[in-house]
Amino acid sequence: MRGRVVLGVCGGIAAFRAVEVLRALVKASCRVFPILTKNATRFVTPRTFAVLSRGPAQVSLWGEPTSPGIDHIDLARRADLLLVAPATANVLAKMAAGIADDALTTYALAHRGKVVLAPAMNTFMLKHPATQQALAVLKDRGVVVVEPVFGLLADGERGVGKLAEVEEIVGAALAALPPRGPLAGVKLLVTAGPTREPLDAVRVFTNRSSGRMGVALAVVARELGAVVSVLAGAGLAVPAGMQVEWFETAADLGRLLEARAAKADAVLHAAAVADFRPASVATGKLDRRQGTLQVALEPVPDLAAGMPRANGRPYLVIFAAEPAIGLEERALRKLSGKRADAVIANPIDEPGLGMESARNRALVLSRLGLRRELPAQDKESLARELLLTLAPELVSAHRP
Ligand SMILES: Cc1cc2nc3c(=O)[nH]c(=O)nc-3n(C[C@H](O)[C@H](O)[C@H](O)COP(=O)(O)O)c2cc1C
Repeated sequence: MRGRVVLGVCGGIAAFRAVEVLRALVKASCRVFPILTKNATRFVTPRTFAVLSRGPAQVSLWGEPTSPGIDHIDLARRADLLLVAPATANVLAKMAAGIADDALTTYALAHRGKVVLAPAMNTFMLKHPATQQALAVLKDRGVVVVEPVFGLLADGERGVGKLAEVEEIVGAALAALPPRGPLAGVKLLVTAGPTREPLDAVRVFTNRSSGRMGVALAVVARELGAVVSVLAGAGLAVPAGMQVEWFETAADLGRLLEARAAKADAVLHAAAVADFRPASVATGKLDRRQGTLQVALEPVPDLAAGMPRANGRPYLVIFAAEPAIGLEERALRKLSGKRADAVIANPIDEPGLGMESARNRALVLSRLGLRRELPAQDKESLARELLLTLAPELVSAHRP
């Protein structure tokens, strides 16, 4: 279990999005305790929240008690986080002032863990000095605010006030939970996606990597309690709320690794980095009328082998996408050649698996003698198995 989250839902038009927030939290192995304001029930029903959280959804302070104690005090003893999404102007003002006149705001006063708020409202309500003052007071108390974004609001106007993306809200909530899980507190740097090496002003050499495996590793590692940052190839779909920096070329990625790798406990180097790039980049756009084009390619320095490391840190996991025949020998050669700690080998020539597909299989080998074959499955469940397989070695690389 990743953590206990009290999910406050207020009476705003974005209340239906709280259902998605709840589902994402449950998927991330959180126990969720919903509390709806009375006005929230005009937009969504407590039953939906009860069913999806597999527990009671509280609306009133005065319902049948679920325990011999006082419900909101008992819950506050156990909860790690209060997440209010959406938070109305009304609830923000009440929380800032310490008003406790319903189940949610009373709970908020009793709560002792972290608080994350995701406000959503009409632009003028948001900009009103009363709301701004409430937000300033709450931030000053250490509350994390997932800022509302610009967009088309329910009132038909365009402006700031739209609820942030669900992934961003859930990302902020997971980041605020105390580290728990098999990778608790391990600082992981994940590289993902293809590099793009320019040929001229508009064309690039790239590869077929979808980046899905790297993104799945990042998402699952965060669910398992790791502190994750991602170095992602241009255009990759990385869930909002994930700490991410972007690269285009192998040289960009090299610079990012130089700056970031030493601070990580472990690097999962899943990016598909070019082996060759055009030796020179043409200015402007090459013209087809020039006829046949000869492009000289030069080798790209090996980023995995050149990873900045001191005293065996960070723990380095590399990927080897190779033909199925001879996979293990090639993977072992890569492991020692690149001075890596573990290698995840995948076949490139089995239909329906690997680079552009949603499924893959893997063979995990580590320098300490670990050897495990993981059967073909979707990349997210494979990521979970890979991380759980490597967890003991990743955890021993962790320096608090
Ligand atoms: C259709 C409708 C949509 C509303 N949407 C919002 C909203 O997005 N944000 C907000 O702060 N208030 C919104 N309100 C106003 C709140 O419902 C109102 O301030 C209410 O008292 C909030 O109750 P609660 O904060 O206890 O949930 C809306 C009201 C109506 C009628």
